[in-house]
Amino acid sequence: MTDRVVRAKAPAKINVFLGVGSLRSDGYHDLSTGFLAVSLFEHVEVRAADDFSVTLDGSIDTSSVPLGESNLAIRAARAVAEACGATGGARIRIEKHVPIAGGMGGGSADAAATLVACNELWNAGLSRDELLALAADLGADVPFSLTGGVAMGTGRGDQLSPALHRGKMHWVLVPADGELSTPVVFHELDKHRWSQQGELERNVTQPIVSVGAMQALRLGDVRMLAETMHNDLQAPALKLMPRLVGTLELGERMGALAGIVSGSGPTCAFLCEDEESAVQLVQDFCDQSIRAVHVTGPVAGAKITGAKVRS
Ligand code: C5P
Repeated sequence: MTDRVVRAKAPAKINVFLGVGSLRSDGYHDLSTGFLAVSLFEHVEVRAADDFSVTLDGSIDTSSVPLGESNLAIRAARAVAEACGATGGARIRIEKHVPIAGGMGGGSADAAATLVACNELWNAGLSRDELLALAADLGADVPFSLTGGVAMGTGRGDQLSPALHRGKMHWVLVPADGELSTPVVFHELDKHRWSQQGELERNVTQPIVSVGAMQALRLGDVRMLAETMHNDLQAPALKLMPRLVGTLELGERMGALAGIVSGSGPTCAFLCEDEESAVQLVQDFCDQSIRAVHVTGPVAGAKITGAKVRS
């Protein structure tokens, strides 16, 4: 019997700006966000099996990731099987490098890589648009991990328009000890807003688009981007995890152009002037016994990295 193995990888994301609107009746919020795919990847390997299962390894502690049917990679594999009529299952191995519940779309990257890998495994022949539709059903950030690059996200964050960009940017990521639940952070923002607003205003907050940040990306102007980065989820994330305030201040004091909480946090992302200052910042964090990772962006979205047949 032959055993075909397909490998794929998909990138993490930073939201260089994130404007959050009102809570909708479907439990989501309207967003306006600038996505940037960065060079921190989840690697996924799939092979045909009788049933669906997932195993995890990699450079981070994966003990909090569910291994059952709620795992996004299993849901992604099932979605491809259903779309193409595959009768068997898939054994999925995920090599995790993106912080878990860290605001960088790690689970979404697992799903995006699994979508492209299973499409190849079963010769499903699903088009990019068909994969994007499956991705949007799996989660708001999954479509962007498929497309990568730089994009403006609206709706739940899953309606993407590619954005113009120039050059390569250097970032330093500081994962936090601990996780933040995305719904909890959104809820904290709502609670704060509702305490400031009257009943009538509750459902009318529009997500603000950062024209300046999009222009900075188009020009490849890192100083301008540093001045225009904004995240509506940062204040609630800092309220839930106050020690992040110190991390952001420390990174900026040690030379980052600007620091921002990534998505719903708690990973902090620091934009640096160039490669040299990013390398120096990683060293400076390391000297303080704080783990930091240098990444660049933009990078491409989910793609196949290898396929082989074992007999
Ligand atoms: O789509 P995803 O499963 O990643 O979203 C997780 C949760 O984050 C949602 O159930 C919702 O509570 C919150 N969310 C939101 N608005 C968005 C995206 C996520 O409220 N646009």
